[in-house]
Amino acid sequence: MSERILVLGSGGREHALAWRLARDPGRPGIHVAPGNDGMALTFTRHAVRETDPAAVVELARRIAATLVVVGPEAPLAAGVSDALVAAGIPVSGASAAGAQLESSKWFAKQIMREAAVPTARAEMFSTLREAEAALDRFGPPWVVKADGLAAGKGVLVSDSRDEARAFLAACLEGGRFGDGGHRVVLEEFLAGEEASVIAICDGERHVLLPAARDYKRAFDADAGPNTGGMGSFAPTPAVTPEVEDTVSAQVITPVLRALAARGTPYRGALYAGLMLTAAGPRVIEFNARFGDPETQSILPLLGGSLGTLLASAAKGAIERDAVTRMAGAAVTLALVDEGYPDAVRGGGVIEGLGSCASEVTVFHAGTRQEQGGWVVRGGRAAYLTATGSHVEEARARVMAARARLSGTGWRSRGDIAAVVAQPMRSA
Ligand code: AMP
Ligand code: GLY
Repeated sequence: MSERILVLGSGGREHALAWRLARDPGRPGIHVAPGNDGMALTFTRHAVRETDPAAVVELARRIAATLVVVGPEAPLAAGVSDALVAAGIPVSGASAAGAQLESSKWFAKQIMREAAVPTARAEMFSTLREAEAALDRFGPPWVVKADGLAAGKGVLVSDSRDEARAFLAACLEGGRFGDGGHRVVLEEFLAGEEASVIAICDGERHVLLPAARDYKRAFDADAGPNTGGMGSFAPTPAVTPEVEDTVSAQVITPVLRALAARGTPYRGALYAGLMLTAAGPRVIEFNARFGDPETQSILPLLGGSLGTLLASAAKGAIERDAVTRMAGAAVTLALVDEGYPDAVRGGGVIEGLGSCASEVTVFHAGTRQEQGGWVVRGGRAAYLTATGSHVEEARARVMAARARLSGTGWRSRGDIAAVVAQPMRSA
């Protein structure tokens, strides 16, 4: 039977997953739901809500999907993977129980404590009075996190006590992030270089993908608020083979063991956001999925069959050699709405996207096709990804393509992958 893979989601990460899966040796047919206008140019698109478990199961049955790959966190938290498993349909994506690693910062902290995973000291609060009273124990700088899902924007890192207090008040009393902000976590500040490591897990064993660097702040030189991610590159030299071994042994394996011991073995992509401190890697967050925009930089570097890796992990019998790491590097640049992340306006126009496809790969997210052109529909509109024999070459290709784009109502960072830090020497 020929392979037919259904990718759930509509962002640049899902576009990259679909793009890479389509290049597997078996040339699987790729379906997407709900996808976006850019993905619809190449893949079969279905107007099905990815967070509706029954509708996803119905679609997967109708198209006889041999594998469903879940991109974003919302369907995981909504139990879409559990519904597919119950229907006997192979799915790459964590169960709702596993997705709590991402949907609750405090759950993640408890698992890390149980599994002795190195991470920042933290306390949780549900009243403003208690949280304010604790500020002196933590900062400056202060690290304040909404406990629940907040689209990558629920974290404040600031030297200003007033700002920390205002953020606490907005979460705990102002309804910011809705339910996601009703509990907050105060955390010890960690200094170092950041890295994102994604492991494909089969409940017990795992394979690490090349480590990536994400740029979370809105503006150049890491100024401005946190975003979902403004660009990325991979592999990051800061994650040496020794750091990878440490992450495997001290982070991924013990977390998989702890979740299996609870009766909820973790199958799918597990993302560890790391701070590489002088004392070794520390986990600052888990995501129960591939990173966005890390995935756009990681997947072009994989040889072999990504579908085989994901499907074997989903079955609990990971085929570690299904993918290989190719030489070279990849750089990804996000093109975002002018007002992203705080005041997205929409309606901008990106001119020239159609003609840069020979130098870079364009992954679409919040775009809409209108009269042959691309209109900005959401915060992160599209991504330009290039590979090269090293990061500098990939960056030069991305920036050359970027320079040929025009239009209004959108912007991008200029410094993605400009200075690539070398490996830290541990103290
Ligand atoms: P998170 O969503 O938890 O990854 O946090 C978003 C960003 O805030 C991270 O990428 C870091 O840049 C920063 N951050 C989070 N936790 C800490 C911490 N404990 N110390 C320093 N920076 C942090
Ligand atoms: N780029 C970070 C994330 O996917 O959450």
